[in-house]
Amino acid sequence: SRREKNIRPLLQERLPDTHFRLLELAGRLGDRLDVPVYAVGGFVRDILLGRPNLDLDVVVEGDGIAFARALADELGGRMRAHHKFKTAVVIFPAWESERQRGDNGIPDAAPPALPVAGDASNEATAEAAHRAAERPEQRIDVATARPEYYEYPAALPTVELSSIKMDLYRRDFTINAQAVQLNGAHFGRLVDFFGAQRDMKDKVIRVLHSLSFVEDPTRILRAIRFEKRYDFRIGAQCERLIKNALQLGMMDRLSGARLFHELKLIFDEKAPLPCIRRMEDYDILRLIHPLLKLNPAKMDVLTELERVLHWYRLLYLSPAPEPWMLYLLGLCGNGKYLDVAAVTDRLAFSRKVRQDFLTLRENVREVYNLLNLWMQRDGSMSGLNNLLSPIAPEGILYLMARAKTEDARKHISYYLTRLRGETPDITGNDLLAMGISAGPAYGRVLRRVLAAKLDGLARTRAAQLDLAHELLREETAREALAAEVGPGG
Ligand code: CTP
Repeated sequence: SRREKNIRPLLQERLPDTHFRLLELAGRLGDRLDVPVYAVGGFVRDILLGRPNLDLDVVVEGDGIAFARALADELGGRMRAHHKFKTAVVIFPAWESERQRGDNGIPDAAPPALPVAGDASNEATAEAAHRAAERPEQRIDVATARPEYYEYPAALPTVELSSIKMDLYRRDFTINAQAVQLNGAHFGRLVDFFGAQRDMKDKVIRVLHSLSFVEDPTRILRAIRFEKRYDFRIGAQCERLIKNALQLGMMDRLSGARLFHELKLIFDEKAPLPCIRRMEDYDILRLIHPLLKLNPAKMDVLTELERVLHWYRLLYLSPAPEPWMLYLLGLCGNGKYLDVAAVTDRLAFSRKVRQDFLTLRENVREVYNLLNLWMQRDGSMSGLNNLLSPIAPEGILYLMARAKTEDARKHISYYLTRLRGETPDITGNDLLAMGISAGPAYGRVLRRVLAAKLDGLARTRAAQLDLAHELLREETAREALAAEVGPGG
């Protein structure tokens, strides 16, 4: 059905006021430049599905770069153009919402421009500029809909040839191929050429044409990601096209960088596990690399990983872990070093990321065994700290997920929540005050003081100072001995 739908009320209700006004401003600018302007893609999808998504993508039927330049002027921001693709990004200081401003006035145009350096003539301007500098930046992507780039069958009626339609037709799924016009007279007009409204009602992921996955195999992973994120269903025809594309070896055609980027997006989802399971359904994990194939043991570890990651995030512990590292550790399971290295090569890791990942994995495997030894023979907090402190947080969470016993898990969680942030209550300055000149002994002494503190042997600062004195005497005696015996002695 071609009944026109206007979603202005939805936009008003579901967007922060600042974003709504921004859309209006873009529409007015389109009117002034006499070009149709649309918000498109994920922004429209998420408004309709009631999920906040503030990434604004705009398509202009006309000169997108000229529009972006004018928009940047209007917003007191800057613009970067990609002339080859006729796209641009506008970057500007984010608008404060009504609530943050504490009044009802919404700026109709740009905040005051930054004063020239050294210009102290207007304190109010300087102060506004200062606030502007602290405000986060916002970006709007602008693209040009280019009818001249497409060839149309001569028989199509001209009304079907609008360039916005062609722009939307190049996109991945119907739900991502909707637009909302922003021009004043049409503000809020929903543009849906491909039945997205029906698909959203049926909760189905559907492509626009049968070559979609062959044109861009990353869409296979995107289909899975959207299916799980929105609790939709990949449609039957869509599923056949995915299987077909996989059979044609399209996964192998994907560059490592694009594949890794898509996988990272999956691991960044709220619930990557259903996506991973779905990838396994389609045999995609094996197609990426045989080592990644799922099995029940891995599935158990991944489930545990997700729980542990959730726990870590609930506690707001820092630093924030990289989910992809965790999930990839899980998917590599007990694989051989060379196979894991081959996975990093398939995903085109940079030399540094590759080295970091492989080292992390080796360290984790070693510490996994040492941890059991520590539990049997040591049990001291300083011993635990020594074991875990060299390991990146992703590795520690992985160890926690794989812990053999509830006891081991508790120790690791104790390390993360209590031990990790601990420092001695004395510093190098205290050692300096003891009359010792700075040197490698400092690090050794402070480490031993920390160990004593963690083990409850020197809880107070006074006790730690006493211990430092003692250790420094030891150090001095050792140095004297070394000097007496001489090099090589
Ligand atoms: N798109 C596409 N094919 C791709 C990637 C993107 O057709 N392989 C189109 C879709 O219309 C999509 C838009 O480009 O809506 C923007 O893509 P992207 O920025 O990746 O994000 P979103 O769809 O907004 O998804 P997300 O919510 O994950 O950011």
